[in-house]
Amino acid sequence: MRKVIEYYQRLSQAFGPSGREDAVREVLGDMAGEFCDDISTDALGNLICRKRGPGKKVAAAAHMDSIGVVVTYIDEKGFLRFSAVGGLFRGDLINIQVRFENGTCGVISYEEKTPFKELTLDHLFIDIGAGSREAAEKKVQVGDFAVFHAPIFEQGGILCGPYLDNRIGCTALLLAMESLPEAVENDLYFVFTVQEEVGLRGAGAAAFGIQPDYAIAVDVTDTGDLPEHKYPMACHMGAGAAIKVMDRSVICTPEVRDALERSAKSLGLQTQREILQFGGTDTAALQKTGAGIRAGAISIPTRYLHSPSEMCAASDVEAAAAILAHTMQSL
Ligand code: CO
Ligand code: ZN
Repeated sequence: MRKVIEYYQRLSQAFGPSGREDAVREVLGDMAGEFCDDISTDALGNLICRKRGPGKKVAAAAHMDSIGVVVTYIDEKGFLRFSAVGGLFRGDLINIQVRFENGTCGVISYEEKTPFKELTLDHLFIDIGAGSREAAEKKVQVGDFAVFHAPIFEQGGILCGPYLDNRIGCTALLLAMESLPEAVENDLYFVFTVQEEVGLRGAGAAAFGIQPDYAIAVDVTDTGDLPEHKYPMACHMGAGAAIKVMDRSVICTPEVRDALERSAKSLGLQTQREILQFGGTDTAALQKTGAGIRAGAISIPTRYLHSPSEMCAASDVEAAAAILAHTMQSL
């Protein structure tokens, strides 16, 4: 099996909504341990893996948290109301399955009396099959988090499943670490950040602690290759890793962007340029840390973002890992 598929399968199953990343951090620590010299976890929960070298400090970052839901209220019939953890779209949530940390599963459904067009998250609820509040509370408490419970598949090099955002970015970091030679030129940090999905809350603290000369984030991005797409976007699944120019939160440092494109060229890899018209990434938090850090990003073109069925090409992830490893050593 291709390593990218194997790693994603393992990481996608770990529970890790924003702020509750313990389980995914444990899995990542196990997987990254053999590829680096030392591993630490900071106060926010960012996992920092270092491979020592004599040169510049270069940090790569991928967020390990995922979007999810948190229970806000349990009614007398045992139905759960919830609030979003990160960006959720009601269209992705109708009659899908979710899973709590203790293994309890449920279905998100909606108040049928509300016209479909008017539905908001407030009209949705989670059904865990409990007949009463008392029965529900034996399984789930207010304040408990849940994540998508969805199958994954691989078909002809295409991966589909929950939380490619951003376990696939974590996968790219692992693949890059694994590909490094025994002795490296630069002082390399691979950071798995927390709480990206609720507003880039972890990456800045990690970067403040490391104070790297350069930082490169790896995350997913939208694609413009679907039928009747909402706006034109020059970023297609399977057409290579995307080098970020900008999004709503950041304009990438030209020096880093150029270095990424040069690395790709020297590796004979085709890239695409990414301009994302909404959303933000850890790149912004990294760039604004301390007195400022030169920062760029590599993105994996991914369809159906933030749904339980995100889709990307394995080849784009492998290319991102190769470009990342090369750039971290050549900066
Ligand atoms: Co996201
Ligand atoms: Zn992301």
